[in-house]
Amino acid sequence: MAPELTPIVARVLASGQMLQGPEVARLEADLAALCGRKHAICVASGTDALFFSLVGLGIGPGDEVLVPDVSFIATASAVVRTGARPVLVDVDPGCLIDLCRAAEAVTERTRAILIVQLFGAMADPARVCDFAERYGLQVLEDAAQAFGARFGSTPAGALGAVSALSFDPMKVLSAPGSGGAVLTDDDDLAAHARRLRYHGREDGRYVELGYNSQLPSLAAAVLSAKLEHHPAWTVTRREIAAQLSAALSDLPIEQPALDPRVEHAWHKFVIRLDRRDALASHLAAAGVPTMVHYPRPFHREELFGAQPDDHFPAASSHAHRALSLPIHAQLTDEEVERIALAVRRFFGVA
Ligand SMILES: Cc1ncc(COP(=O)(O)O)c(C=O)c1O
Repeated sequence: MAPELTPIVARVLASGQMLQGPEVARLEADLAALCGRKHAICVASGTDALFFSLVGLGIGPGDEVLVPDVSFIATASAVVRTGARPVLVDVDPGCLIDLCRAAEAVTERTRAILIVQLFGAMADPARVCDFAERYGLQVLEDAAQAFGARFGSTPAGALGAVSALSFDPMKVLSAPGSGGAVLTDDDDLAAHARRLRYHGREDGRYVELGYNSQLPSLAAAVLSAKLEHHPAWTVTRREIAAQLSAALSDLPIEQPALDPRVEHAWHKFVIRLDRRDALASHLAAAGVPTMVHYPRPFHREELFGAQPDDHFPAASSHAHRALSLPIHAQLTDEEVERIALAVRRFFGVA
């Protein structure tokens, strides 16, 4: 996108306004509209967006938050930062928080459930809302990996009281650097997130302790330009996912779980198989890069009070068997075919 972005970068540099200018305001308005939210508040990272969301919900010391055992570290560490305790819950076959297991983990201290739309999938909003209502919990959505996904009429970023987005360079909507956003319909929560992102300031006064968590204007301008391509990129990733699924359908691997009600964002295409490490080495030798998302479920981390694998059978099995194949909108058909062929050769069925 360099030719398209160069004049945009030059314009922002010439404006002299590097923080909190019209570029950020425009991006916030567009994000709020796309996610069907009243407010979007851009911040310096998805991690900060999660932390400010939790603080905005009033989560703090003595509270417990239900968190899926498989996600990026920030999901659980943001809870720890508030002084609350992340209560780890095993995942379902789609690697989303298992609501049956979550029900067993509710105590009188539980205040919220953190729904992570992992890999670009979406949890069923009706089931999540029923669950939260039954146990009197707040819902916080970690939509860092799912911007552009939908479950029926609910877009990622619209679930529960507050949602967090990330614009980290690996994400489907990526900034030239770090970035994130808090999305909510709640005026007070939005005002609180705005205070927290800049030293607790409101109407020129410093009313509470805050942080410096601003999204640079340059990042906002680049994100706005990318936003125009984002729907087409999402369609391309869906086509690539369908192409990979079809090409691998006869192999002894577990494909990503698909719910026909979900329009997936395909941030990751994660297969599972017992000989995962051997396949990863074979693909590396064939020039196909892969990654494991995520090799260490939270229950193995001392930071969250390590627990045995057998309390988290689905997350533990996922950690041993998961492999992320390349998926991004710039992959050509030939490259996708080459990836599929390399996987097929591993099984001797090319
Ligand atoms: C699920 C999830 N939550 C939170 C984050 C944190 O976002 P950031 O890296 O922008 O702080 C990320 C990504 O990095 C993520 O994948």
